[in-house]
Amino acid sequence: MSGRIEVVVADREQAGAEAARRILDRARRGGLRRLGVATGGSAEPVYAALRADADAVALLRETTAYALDEYAGLAADHPDSYRATLMRQYASPMGLSPDRLRVPDGSAADLEAEAARYDAEIAAHGGVDLQILGIGGNGHIAFNEPGAPLDGRTHVQMLSESTRADNARFFESQDEVPTHAITQGIGTIMSADEIVMLAFGAGKAAAVRDALRGPVTPAVPASALQRHARVTLIADGDALALL
Ligand code: GLP
Repeated sequence: MSGRIEVVVADREQAGAEAARRILDRARRGGLRRLGVATGGSAEPVYAALRADADAVALLRETTAYALDEYAGLAADHPDSYRATLMRQYASPMGLSPDRLRVPDGSAADLEAEAARYDAEIAAHGGVDLQILGIGGNGHIAFNEPGAPLDGRTHVQMLSESTRADNARFFESQDEVPTHAITQGIGTIMSADEIVMLAFGAGKAAAVRDALRGPVTPAVPASALQRHARVTLIADGDALALL
């Protein structure tokens, strides 16, 4: 089944509040046991809105959070690992016990086996209930770079130079950005019941246009979302400028 992607125009702060509202509505209806969490600047306003809301903290502490991806080769306690980032921004302030934050282990000896284990954990539940998602400037989702199969499962992905450059701001230098990651595949992401994608700034405009209006193609991983029944894009005017 595919649906029309709903578009909500909002600045960063409003977008965080709007995404948080959708998450809480779902939690109040009893439909949120597993929340898909994303790293990256676009998801930060969502966590800020949730952290600031005592009802959200009370409602979400017994849910489980599933990360989209993790750098390969960083220990879990490395400050730039996605586990450490999500602990800081979401799990810890929301009062989740650490085992309620599920992240692939980027320091596993056998990364492919770890990817398969993580995928099976998500598949055992039929996917997460609601996935928070960002979009890369090149149209990537999680760490699925252009060319990744649209039905792919969790796997080890080599990162493009543009993605490493985009993410260098979180590290001391670009040389420190890992070259590989474990990422949920596009098929794994598509198994979420509902997806809320966030995009801000002119640097996302071409990717947003191609994702929503272009052909569904592995060249634009986010274009797969056109085939999902329930996707909302919350974005600012700059990110929507080319629609
Ligand atoms: C990283 C993450 C993606 C995220 C993207 C965009 O590559 N793996 O999940 O969507 O960055 O990040 P930002 O929101 O900071 O622009």
